[in-house]
Amino acid sequence: MQRKRVAVLISGRGSNMAALIEAAKDNDYPAEIALVLSNRPNAGGLGVARAAGIATDVVDHAAFGKDRAAFDRALQAVLEKYRIDIVCLAGFMRLLTPGFVAQWPERMLNIHPALLPAFKGLDTHKRALAAGAKMHGATVHFVVAEMDAGPIVAQGAVAVHTGDSEAALAARVLAVEHRIYPAALKLVAEGRVQVVNGQCLIDGMPVPGLPV
Ligand code: GRF
Repeated sequence: MQRKRVAVLISGRGSNMAALIEAAKDNDYPAEIALVLSNRPNAGGLGVARAAGIATDVVDHAAFGKDRAAFDRALQAVLEKYRIDIVCLAGFMRLLTPGFVAQWPERMLNIHPALLPAFKGLDTHKRALAAGAKMHGATVHFVVAEMDAGPIVAQGAVAVHTGDSEAALAARVLAVEHRIYPAALKLVAEGRVQVVNGQCLIDGMPVPGLPV
């Protein structure tokens, strides 16, 4: 099977990107990381990607001012240049326009550090602690125009411990992120994920529930 060409879009340290690069080193993995693309020239993950021999590119959002559509067109041009099949957002801190999102139906994934639909947006760990949540986790989902929405491909849960700090909880969730993102991308790259009535089916079955 032809491996799918994946672009990972980052804004920061890129630990999820690194997990995807690591998984794709396996020849049996159905995707290759063909490009790491950042909206910030100084994103830490760019160096990590280069050190791993992955092509990198930057589309600096600052150069586009408030013109999100122009920024998204520039992103699209780079993705086309690298003949990308699947886009993985991994700590990519820009909202994308509906027009851009529409060009990647069921071909763009995001990882969010919460059990969606709970805790969309930023500061998820702090908010989970403040809410007294007993379970927390991470979600990989297809990207739709609405932020942190879209059909769920995979979730992983962790227990919230009594007295947890935000940093301790974030680290526990991050370890889960690094497992579920490569697993979710594998399923998508293998063509095993189908969206029916707004929900993902994997090999025709609902996404498995979480262990309790
Ligand atoms: C992760 O927690 C991810 O879920 C969120 O932003 C963070 C990015 O971390 N969207 P990293 O850059 O992958 O290390």
